[in-house]
Amino acid sequence: METMCGIAGYVGPRSAVQVVYDQLKRLEYRGYDSAGIAFLESGAIKVFKRAGKLGELGKLLGEFPDDTHMAIAHSRWATHGAPTDVNAHPHFDQFEQVAIIHNGIIENYLELKEELVHNGHTFQSETDTEVAAHIIGEEYARGVPLEEAVRRAARRLRGAYALVVVSRTERNKIVCARNASPLVIGLGEEENLLASDIPALLPYTRQVLVLEDDRIAILTPDEVVVTDLHGIEQPYVPMQVDWDIAAAEKSGYDHFMLKEIHEQPEVIRQCLAGRLDDANNVRLDNVFSEHVWGEIDRVNFIACGTSYHAGLMGKYLFETLLRIPADVFYSSEFRYGDPVLSPKSLAIFISQSGETADSLAALRLCKQRRIRTLGIVNVIGSSIARECDRVIITQAGPEISVASTKAYTAQVISLVLLALHVAQVQEMPGVRVEEVVSQLKRLPGLAEKALELEPQVQELAKKAAEAKLFFFLGRGVDAYVALEGALKLKEIAYVATQESPAGEMKHGPLALVEPGVFALFGATDAALRDKLVSNMKEIQARGGLAVSVTTEEDQITDKAADFTLKLPRVNQNYLCALLSIIPLQLLAYHLASLKGLEIDQPRNLAKSVTVE
Ligand code: F6R
Repeated sequence: METMCGIAGYVGPRSAVQVVYDQLKRLEYRGYDSAGIAFLESGAIKVFKRAGKLGELGKLLGEFPDDTHMAIAHSRWATHGAPTDVNAHPHFDQFEQVAIIHNGIIENYLELKEELVHNGHTFQSETDTEVAAHIIGEEYARGVPLEEAVRRAARRLRGAYALVVVSRTERNKIVCARNASPLVIGLGEEENLLASDIPALLPYTRQVLVLEDDRIAILTPDEVVVTDLHGIEQPYVPMQVDWDIAAAEKSGYDHFMLKEIHEQPEVIRQCLAGRLDDANNVRLDNVFSEHVWGEIDRVNFIACGTSYHAGLMGKYLFETLLRIPADVFYSSEFRYGDPVLSPKSLAIFISQSGETADSLAALRLCKQRRIRTLGIVNVIGSSIARECDRVIITQAGPEISVASTKAYTAQVISLVLLALHVAQVQEMPGVRVEEVVSQLKRLPGLAEKALELEPQVQELAKKAAEAKLFFFLGRGVDAYVALEGALKLKEIAYVATQESPAGEMKHGPLALVEPGVFALFGATDAALRDKLVSNMKEIQARGGLAVSVTTEEDQITDKAADFTLKLPRVNQNYLCALLSIIPLQLLAYHLASLKGLEIDQPRNLAKSVTVE
């Protein structure tokens, strides 16, 4: 199960191993923790794989034959299963007749595996990819051409995947299949290529075909044929890509931050993938067993920065849904604060990088005190992921921009899944798990709608370009998102912000309001809107401007605010609040962009804070 891997494939007159290795290097920005390659030599498929940096595989390059004309390669950014040699791709089928690389999640792999084991298959790895390899191998052994074997297998696979397959006997053919995972094909002169992302094609060709879902492509040196899952040929028109390579890494976006903001619908999908079933239940592996949850008397969320803000959402979820008391600590305060910890408490560490020094130190303190620990981490194999007793990987894919955006969304979704999981195993009738799950399934589509607010946000950014001070306010769960919105603005647009629960305004911060200040109000919680209107009036009476970030049906703050951004409605207030971070991220981005700032590498900040 891999969600953000690098895929490469080449067939043509050049040295195929050199080309696919070069392609992987061009995908390095996506992150990787192991890599592998497959090519034909002396009538057999040779597979080499190495955990660690791409250079580990590169060390073998001198030993590979130069006269191979077909190869596939893969760099893995693990989300399930440790980054080891065995789990790295490519994987063989039972008879070593085919080798495959894969990006995505095959959701029904356990049932397929059971069937294969029953038929006598044995497996080397724990991966779903190997199951797909065996299914294709079994079909291929029946004597059908490779493309037909892939089609038959694809009809049985559920989930998201980009699969790339070569066989021992069809020397000049690569077959690939796609369903909801990225896969692009480069059309060259007497050569053809494929990759998970456009930058890996550009040194070789600018004629690119983005393969559609439920399509198979057959690449030979002379042509690329596309069919549907039943073998019916599908016409296509390649596009001419004019981007330079740096722009291509960002998929045409000007900055990684903007790309990552726009990836959020997909990130929500990835984070949910394999964790919800058709009956709207949550399936989280590898968290504590049922009786442990029954014992836990308090949950402490411990994190820094954006991850701390996700922790606030965690507290809200644990207290309001589960009625389990919860606290949130800054890691740096926790470790020096001599915290009072109940032996029955659970410490939850939230971290994108899994390497933040203060969070790691706080984790080690909890371990010394024999407190149970759970990590919510994006980078598998990172220190926090390894050292926590249990871990949930957020599956957001590599986050490159220093300002965290998609990782936050994935952290909050992971916390919602965790709370639902606990409600389920503890059989808490008050939490309507199925109903929340049905709303979660709608969320990627709703996040897409939230992104459609971008032109309005750009308008707002122009109006606010000269403002010296921004307030970020809200009540309840909106107040937590307000903190995250303010952090984004500070860190990339270098503007001063004042953030607090809206009710706190009168107790001091109101003194800062003067003409020209902008106040952003998170107003997604319908029950608290009346109260927000009075706070808006307080700002406006002193010459400030009020912006409401709310949901579509709101007729209350809508009338009071000077500017309104309306999000789609979802039943759970915490999910509405989560969506409201999208326009706030976009506002920070567009204000920074109007000022011509660096954005992906803001001054004085680092992506992974490994010092105290
Ligand atoms: C803000 C940001 C930082 C991180 C913080 C924790 O955009 O990126 O505030 O959230 O440094 O980092 P992780 O989550 O890697 O522990």
